[in-house]
Amino acid sequence: MCGIVGYVGPSQAPTILMDGLKRLEYRGYDSAGIAVHDGNRINMLKAKGKLINLAEKLKENPVKGTLGIGHTRWATHGAPSDINSHPQLSGDSVIAVVHNGIIENYLDIKEELSQKGYKFVSETDTETVAHLIDFYYKSGMGFFESVFKTLERIEGAYALGILCKDYPDTLIAARKNCPLVVGKGQGENFIASDIPAILHHTRDVYFLDDNEIAVIKADSIKIYDRNQNEVQRDIYNVKWDIDAAEKGGYEHFMIKEINEQPKIIQDLVERRMPEGRDTIDMSGIKLRKENIQNLSRIYIVACGTAYHAGLIGKSLIEKLTRIPVIADVASEFRYRDPVLDEKTLLIVVSQSGETADTLEALKMAKRSGARVMAVVNAVGSSIAREADDVFYILAGPEISVASTKAFTAQVVAMELIALSMAQELGKFSTEQFNKIKEEIYSVPSSISKILQKSSVEKALAEKYSGSSNVFFIGRGLDYIVSMEGSLKLKEIAYLHSEAYAAGELKHGPIAMIDENTLVIAVLTQEELFEKTLSNIKEVKARGAKVLAVAMEGKSEFKGEVDDVIYIPRSSWMTAPILAAVPAQLFAYYVAYCLGTDIDQPRNLAKSVTVE
Ligand code: F6R
Repeated sequence: MCGIVGYVGPSQAPTILMDGLKRLEYRGYDSAGIAVHDGNRINMLKAKGKLINLAEKLKENPVKGTLGIGHTRWATHGAPSDINSHPQLSGDSVIAVVHNGIIENYLDIKEELSQKGYKFVSETDTETVAHLIDFYYKSGMGFFESVFKTLERIEGAYALGILCKDYPDTLIAARKNCPLVVGKGQGENFIASDIPAILHHTRDVYFLDDNEIAVIKADSIKIYDRNQNEVQRDIYNVKWDIDAAEKGGYEHFMIKEINEQPKIIQDLVERRMPEGRDTIDMSGIKLRKENIQNLSRIYIVACGTAYHAGLIGKSLIEKLTRIPVIADVASEFRYRDPVLDEKTLLIVVSQSGETADTLEALKMAKRSGARVMAVVNAVGSSIAREADDVFYILAGPEISVASTKAFTAQVVAMELIALSMAQELGKFSTEQFNKIKEEIYSVPSSISKILQKSSVEKALAEKYSGSSNVFFIGRGLDYIVSMEGSLKLKEIAYLHSEAYAAGELKHGPIAMIDENTLVIAVLTQEELFEKTLSNIKEVKARGAKVLAVAMEGKSEFKGEVDDVIYIPRSSWMTAPILAAVPAQLFAYYVAYCLGTDIDQPRNLAKSVTVE
């Protein structure tokens, strides 16, 4: 999605802005721009395409100044083009605006301003904001008041960075339903839509709340609420290091993040289930036995990969607690009038904590009196702040658009939540708990073993990268891993792929199977092994190539398949985590063979802050 960076201080803003935008590239974008105040006027440079195009323009037409805003745009209103890129200026360059999000009522405002003589040059909703601020400013209001008045008028979602020609020392930032942080430096301050953009300058950030405005100068940051009252906000000190947001010798962020999984899961498990403890540390969660006993249903709601983690959570919670659980994608959940009341728990799962549909589902549930628990990676994100209970997975910044480390950490989190709930309900003994604990403790070393043998997935990817049609099949938890494997292959290798519950093949999709089809069969669930095997035989009989993912020691079916990827032996609960890793590696290496843009796949953005 779009990225914002802003700077005010003693240094040259263009260098800081370009560097910040570079660090936001991973979010996905199709054009970029900067606006810099040189003390007298605002100068702007914009370019369609990658940042290198903007850098070249900057080289040809250097701009100077110590106050500025920059933006990477992922087109929503109007095609990617120089004109539609941000910043957007008011007609005579008095106001410059960068914007993430969508202004829903921009057409009404555009119409109103057009009648007042304002000329629009772009197709963007953002230009309306620049003109509206300009309108109030020219009617005699101050810069701050004009922004305030504008925010009262606009509807939708926004993170904004705003400059005014007559205020060469002031940067204004505002947010509603879109992430924005203000970074506090020494004699210099920053804004960013994402922490990595400014982390090499400062670790001290303020998270803005919805409807807040920050007025930022080199030596001061003032935050105001919607009633223009100044609010005091604690500084959050970012704990993770900038190295976490660098490639660290790996060719892509995706493969780096795949390799980080053992450490992340080890840290998560040791934090939540320290040695010697026979309960789970549920810090951040205030849900107790009486709340759980009182629940009539649980919903788990998320998007994409996080939804797949939620589906695994559904199976585990239902199985261990016997409370009915419904998992749904957030964009559907919001609009299907679900039954929500005080006896409902909504669990939302989100890496970024900013996904628009997930956030709205959360708000809807809260309005209906339901309790909301969030499983989130990004500390201080909107979802984390809105939820009643937060379970942080603390996987560090995930830069690759394709989610990997967040997924496996989310699944571990769902397991711990399921276990803790079951324990609160007295569903199993300390002995049983300790056995499960031991199994979960073995996950990091099992993943390391899979990673050490990644040449297997690499060779198989080379063998199968020419496939034009891939089916993933599995049953139960293996079906969910199949969904995740299929999504990874689609999004980074652009290979047509579908995931099917193995038992559903006969109800239609088997018609698609022929000798050009690759079927990837996941068979880690012991009691479903024979059933999936019979489905393998069916596709094999129709000429498909079959690649199986199974546990070590399972060799009796080898005659039925073309290739097998083995994962270390593990329990039914932990096998999905392990089986996800070969699926990630396979997708990565297929994409590698096909030469796609692995970390920034086409048409995709890292966090989806629009519906
Ligand atoms: C796929 C992927 C997406 C995200 C989805 C939700 O690899 O990354 O499907 O999982 O957009 O994002 P979050 O978890 O940030 O809510």
